[in-house]
Amino acid sequence: MKLITAIIFPAMLLGAATSALANPFETGNALTGQKIFDEHKCNSCHDKIMAGDGNKIFTRITRKVNTPDALIGQIGMCSGNVNAHFSNQETQDLAAYLNRYYKFK
Ligand code: HEC
Repeated sequence: MKLITAIIFPAMLLGAATSALANPFETGNALTGQKIFDEHKCNSCHDKIMAGDGNKIFTRITRKVNTPDALIGQIGMCSGNVNAHFSNQETQDLAAYLNRYYKFK
């Protein structure tokens, strides 16, 4: 039992430390991002493109976004699709939310 604790506990600490350091959208709030995403019906088009499940556009093999910067850029482009002008903060919030799919570190 002690041995298991000795292995698992440091591993948990390490995991927490790396995920805290690794977030490229540190200033973004994923919950706020999700709200913005839903309010603007971001998936309305993606749903059509992906035959029902718009979220799959973020994980498809041929996805376009492969870096944190590209994600910020694509959010900028797609904001035009919903006639929105997102602030830097809102863009970071959206990126923090979408990173649940991209998992950029
Ligand atoms: C008018 C339709 C439309 C709306 C609304 C829309 N998008 Fe998109 N989105 C697209 C299209 C088209 C693509 C690119 C598909 C392609 O080129 O294969 C795309 C792709 C993306 C991608 C990249 C997916 C990948 O391949 O990695 C992201 C991220 C994204 N959209 C975010 C958003 C966000 C955030 C919103 C809401 C603010 C939004 N989109 C609203 C049409 C739309």
